[in-house]
Amino acid sequence: MLRKTVVLITGASGEIGHGLITRLARQTDRGIITLDLAPLEPALGKLVQREISGSILDSNLLQRVLSEYEVDLVFHLAALLSTRSEITPMTAHQVNVEGTLNMLEFAQHQGESHGRAVTFLYPSSIAAYGLPDLTTKGKAGKVKEDEWNHPITMYGCNKLYCEHLGDYYTNHYKQLSADPVSRVDFRCVRFPGLISAATVPSGGTSDYAPEMIHAAARKQPYACFVRPDARIPFMAMPDGVEALLQLAAAPREKLTRTAYNVGAFNPSADEVREVVVKAFPGAQITYKVDTKRQGIVDSWPADVNDCSARQDWGFAPQYNFDRAFSEYLIPTIRERYR
Ligand code: SER
Repeated sequence: MLRKTVVLITGASGEIGHGLITRLARQTDRGIITLDLAPLEPALGKLVQREISGSILDSNLLQRVLSEYEVDLVFHLAALLSTRSEITPMTAHQVNVEGTLNMLEFAQHQGESHGRAVTFLYPSSIAAYGLPDLTTKGKAGKVKEDEWNHPITMYGCNKLYCEHLGDYYTNHYKQLSADPVSRVDFRCVRFPGLISAATVPSGGTSDYAPEMIHAAARKQPYACFVRPDARIPFMAMPDGVEALLQLAAAPREKLTRTAYNVGAFNPSADEVREVVVKAFPGAQITYKVDTKRQGIVDSWPADVNDCSARQDWGFAPQYNFDRAFSEYLIPTIRERYR
């Protein structure tokens, strides 16, 4: 074989990448190659076949990857999160939209070169939703995928649009040409806020929950930037990683949608604070509400309806709120900061 068959992960040194590499390295006999501006932690670097340092905006670099590797599975994780995207919206658009378009083209060309569809996994977000006010949010309950698709953030707009781009590449690519052949099999999970015991997020708006937990374990005071009653869905990182792998492995004919909600638990900020204080007595958690970031959280749903993911590809999170804390977050984080 001229080229090696591999799995490609972009944005691999981020939070999801961290969990995904560890999990994927155990399960696949294919090599993993990663593409990121930031280096992988050395322990993760050992699990991958090749760590490419570079940008998804660098088309020449993507061409070189195409010439060297046969990729039939892509996890495209590279992105600027929601808070950071509000500070530099143009850069966010470049990375989140143009970067994703580059990766879809890359996948299409890969597929054309080896003759198989490239499975393309894309993490979207609850940021794709936008509820106009708290009364509506309260009444909306478990929001379905096609409801309230009116994001108020650059990141949310980027994610929602890229869901559509992925759908286009898979279902309508070059529809007017004589012989249109899509080689992209795009599949998308709309994640809630993800909480990892291994890493601390940066640049997101759901960061208050993980920041609260990690600060308490490090015995550092923490001022939560949203109100005690702020409520959005969250998920433990192992379930997030599992969702991506399950959706990647699902038979295409079972999939009835392009983007799937996934949910696990949806505590208020104060409910998170309560379990954290119980686990780390003496933790100093106060509130210093940033009304602007609060506005973003208020526009995100309090809960999501994930029936389609459960029906179509068997999504079933292992961690509810209690188990996420008692069996995953608290023991792992305690060990980490020992
Ligand atoms: N956790 C992300 C953020 O806060 C939402 O996808 O930006």
